[in-house]
Amino acid sequence: MTEQELTDKVVASFGAAKDERFREVMQALVRHAHAFVRETRLTDDEWGAAIEFLTAAGHITTDTRQEFVLLSDVLGISMLTVAVSEPSLGDPGLADSTESTVLGPFFVQDAPGIELGGDIAGGASGEPSWVSGRVTDTDGNPVPGARLEVWEADDDGMYDVQYDDGELAGRAHLFTDAEGRYRFWGLTPTPYPIPDDGPVGRLLDLAGRSPMRAPHLHFMVTAPGFRRLITHIFVAGDAILDSDSVFGVKESLVRPFHRHEAGTPTPDGRQPAGPWTSTAFDIVLRKE
Ligand code: BEZ
Ligand code: FE
Repeated sequence: MTEQELTDKVVASFGAAKDERFREVMQALVRHAHAFVRETRLTDDEWGAAIEFLTAAGHITTDTRQEFVLLSDVLGISMLTVAVSEPSLGDPGLADSTESTVLGPFFVQDAPGIELGGDIAGGASGEPSWVSGRVTDTDGNPVPGARLEVWEADDDGMYDVQYDDGELAGRAHLFTDAEGRYRFWGLTPTPYPIPDDGPVGRLLDLAGRSPMRAPHLHFMVTAPGFRRLITHIFVAGDAILDSDSVFGVKESLVRPFHRHEAGTPTPDGRQPAGPWTSTAFDIVLRKE
């Protein structure tokens, strides 16, 4: 059997699959995987090393540590999936809505609720940051009662779920008011490395790549009748914007975080003892 005959035979072996989409995806997977082996003239030892790598990724994966998601992220597959399934700014025929980016592995269902103007820190360390904006539809109408889930790392670059104390911190949910407005206290985002003490970290190391993510604050926004939006905002001017380890940065999501000296009154009438920042992020949701 020639190389091509082998590929054709394996592709054909999926030909009777009942689910059309399954058949399409599996046949494409076989074609591309076989093309990869042919292009690289992959050796037995190299394929063995790949299997060992995937086995190690499986072993380190737990309920709170998902090495395969990390692998997908550092290979740009997560962002490519976003690119092919979510609208980008200026896509023909689509009104501009807020762009999406990677979910990442640190989202937690049922984070605590806060009132408008409340604080998501819950004990997480960092510089306070006033975050506010409006949620509208693509015609500019307010979306009242939209649910915002927000989460971020502390200023040691750690998410709450990476500590062993079981406490939720640096995350919350809140709802927009009748005019679609929201506001809350978060933390000024700081750079942090994706978990790099496992096989994905070794991969980055071999490639001479940094594990650092550009500083960001995560949002998930849902409202009845609208497509769910998963995104972040990034800090304008940060040095890592161009080399984010998971390729998540989009220009439209970069926001200035304005610096305020200690004692400068805040929008909600406080005079913090230390410096703080503020940023604005208006969100446009697309109808389902
Ligand atoms: C994050 O932003 O939380 C994240 C995204 C991808 C990989 C690791 C972390
Ligand atoms: Fe993150």
